[in-house]
Amino acid sequence: MIQFENEYLWELDKSLEGIMINTYETILKEKKKGTSGYFTLGSDSLEIMEDAKQLAQTNTFVKQCDTVVVIGIGGSSLGTKAIESIFKHKTAGVKRMLFLENPDEIDLSDKLVSIEKAKTLFCVVSKSGLTIETISIFKEVIEYFELDYKSPQKEQIVAITDEDSALHKFAHQYGIKTYNIPANVGGRFSVLSAVGIVPLTIAGYDTKSILEGASAMAESFFHGKENHLLKKAALLTKHRKEASINVIFSYANCLEDFTKWYVQLWAESLGKVDIYGNHTGLTPIGHIGSVDQHSFLQLIMQGPRDKTVTFIKVEKFEKEIKVPNIKLKFLEKTDYINGFSFNELIDGECEATKESLSHVGINVDKITLDSLNEKNVGRLILYYELLTSLCGIILEVNTYDQPGVEMGKKILKNKF
Ligand code: PA5
Repeated sequence: MIQFENEYLWELDKSLEGIMINTYETILKEKKKGTSGYFTLGSDSLEIMEDAKQLAQTNTFVKQCDTVVVIGIGGSSLGTKAIESIFKHKTAGVKRMLFLENPDEIDLSDKLVSIEKAKTLFCVVSKSGLTIETISIFKEVIEYFELDYKSPQKEQIVAITDEDSALHKFAHQYGIKTYNIPANVGGRFSVLSAVGIVPLTIAGYDTKSILEGASAMAESFFHGKENHLLKKAALLTKHRKEASINVIFSYANCLEDFTKWYVQLWAESLGKVDIYGNHTGLTPIGHIGSVDQHSFLQLIMQGPRDKTVTFIKVEKFEKEIKVPNIKLKFLEKTDYINGFSFNELIDGECEATKESLSHVGINVDKITLDSLNEKNVGRLILYYELLTSLCGIILEVNTYDQPGVEMGKKILKNKF
């Protein structure tokens, strides 16, 4: 279960109610027209999940692998990494996952030496199939491990890409196992397609429950039961001139990569030129509580009043560690927490910070996961994807393209 509580100080007026109705109608049309296909991945990806499971259970090579390497960047790695980070500490017997994303020589060489070739499956993930970082790292992997991709080691490589991309053609040429990404699912919305589902399933994660959670959220929203999403999108976009920055404070270290995924989703989707030619968008910032209460919080409290804050907290962690009932001389002022669990401490910090921000007039909302389970994470992914689409509709931008990153790619090409 997830509870969503908007505690905005802003009022919903009649005009905003009208915007909410129009936005809902528009997203229903987007779904019907297939403008974006992520809404139904919860069920559409089940077949791919079964296939990946079969591969992991029956292919002699894949079965004995203990490491899955994902070669990809941006939407082709961030979501997968977010899910792996959340569940790796609690899922028994999963394969190690490594992400080769950045053409950073230190990171790359450190990771390459840690890989045992005979026990590793390489998943090269690129929707376009031509991303320079991804394909260059893939070439390095081929050379470093002397992968004979033509045969028979080709079963050591899996390609995840668009049908008819250059990478698809390469994989087809050599009979490399390939999974397709639906054409209408963009990179940053693709974590629940083959992009995330294949490597995570092969590594042993419970992707079925993640997909079920996502389906449940999509169904509920399209049955008109998640009005809070429309309200949040309407308020955040309406008040963007006074509060253009949305800060997420996640109260669990394992959600750090999830906040990075959110930052990419929000920034690359909403930072756009709108249909009238105006530069628009909402700025995402991701933080971890309570660590960042000791840094960024000061800026929110007393710096420019241009931010809203979303608190994400987990009600119940699996483990319980209590603050020991030890009284240390001169440190008696800290004894009020003795005997309480660390979970109670971090939860109290979340509540106290939220209250203090509300108290000084900063708009906050809270997302509470009763536990960090797969269904909840599937729901949360869909929640953020839907919220992004809704904001994009109200901002009148194309949520699913990214023309702003193309210029840099062209300039890069001319430098070599
Ligand atoms: O969201 C996006 O579209 C981007 O972040 C892409 O995922 C990223 O550029 C990687 O692209 P590709 O999957 O084509 O290699």
